[in-house]
Amino acid sequence: MYYKNNNLYIENVKAQSISNKIKTPFYCYSLEKLRKNINNFKRNFTSFNPLICFSVKSNNNLNILKQMKMSGLGADVVSKGELLRVLKAGINPKKIVFSGVGKTENEIKFAIEKKILLINAESESELATINKIAKKKQKVVNIGLRLNPNIDAKTLKKISTGRNEDKFGMSEKNFIYLVNKYKKSSSLRIRCLSVHIGSQILDHHPYSKMIKVINKVIMKSKHQFEFIDLGGGMGINYDLKSKSLNYKKYNFEIQKLLKKHNAKIIFEPGRSIIGDTAILITKVIYVKSSPKKNFIILDAAMNDFMRPALYGSFHRIIPLRKKKNIVKKIHDFVGPVCETTDRFSNLEKYQKIYENDYLAICDVGAYGIVLASNYNLRVKPAEVIVDKSNFKIISKREDINKII
Ligand code: LLP
Repeated sequence: MYYKNNNLYIENVKAQSISNKIKTPFYCYSLEKLRKNINNFKRNFTSFNPLICFSVKSNNNLNILKQMKMSGLGADVVSKGELLRVLKAGINPKKIVFSGVGKTENEIKFAIEKKILLINAESESELATINKIAKKKQKVVNIGLRLNPNIDAKTLKKISTGRNEDKFGMSEKNFIYLVNKYKKSSSLRIRCLSVHIGSQILDHHPYSKMIKVINKVIMKSKHQFEFIDLGGGMGINYDLKSKSLNYKKYNFEIQKLLKKHNAKIIFEPGRSIIGDTAILITKVIYVKSSPKKNFIILDAAMNDFMRPALYGSFHRIIPLRKKKNIVKKIHDFVGPVCETTDRFSNLEKYQKIYENDYLAICDVGAYGIVLASNYNLRVKPAEVIVDKSNFKIISKREDINKII
């Protein structure tokens, strides 16, 4: 994404020319950026050739998932719906892991039938359920056990997953107890230790701590794990000012671990692969001036893109056409939904904005369209992907009549 003659371009396509054809708001991805991100991710860890299971909860567009498959990625799924979607995308079941604290019997049965690589179990009760189903079906099921390493990844509080008080995984004690309970089982094969400590992590220290805990727990459990699934969580630079995650240091810690335990590493990245590949293009409906602020009322709202309303997260908002005249006044970029939190950003100055101008909300590829809803009975937006000089719709805007 770049500006040429003050116009925003995605690859070789002028963003405005897409907006002239597609109704706003819509998500717009860059295929080139997606490929780059996948290659960069692989390059960071070439020394041990991990299995990269794209975390489908971050983006489940079928076309995007087909790209993942073509790049050799597997998938991390958390529901039967996601599993069906990745199978439809052609992802090899032997590259699929199933995570989540509340898998139902129906979901477990389906995952067993599809012979996926691992079911990552998160509690004793879940293991008992999988065991019961496996026995009934006379199948041997490959299991990952999710450890809760009690580490604070110090990201947004609302997305922490690795502390004792979070619902995910099991304590060290419980983990070791369950390894011993099932290690000689005829129906369950404990093949993997899995963890995931949180999301949008930019500091490598929590990862280093996590690796130390993993090492300790493996030693204590005296079990040979064929896989170590380190989850995802690698953060991206939403404000262009933050320090990026030091992949070299993370890689170094993993290599140290692998010297002690010979296992295949699995990653479950979502955001770091897809987050900065997309923008949400929106049109200004009204500009409402009050003595203290300018409200920029957009046609995109929290139902289209939820992160700012849900987590107070920051996303840059950039114009499709850059202008020089700057207005120094607070600008509140809001949507039409009847909620005060339906606000994307609050900036101290911005270029002069007119009604019908087009803007782009940046870095919306992860946890964007997947969190869209019909709140206020609004339709979910379209998704478009740019490939060099062309673009195509990869998911249509919902039809209001079908919803009604
Ligand atoms: N693996 C597991 C078990 C997870 O729970 C998650 C994310 C991932 C992998 C992928 O994490 P990533 O690489 O994308 O950070 N909706 C929130 C983020 C929730 C993350 C939930 N788990 C947001 O918009 O920030």
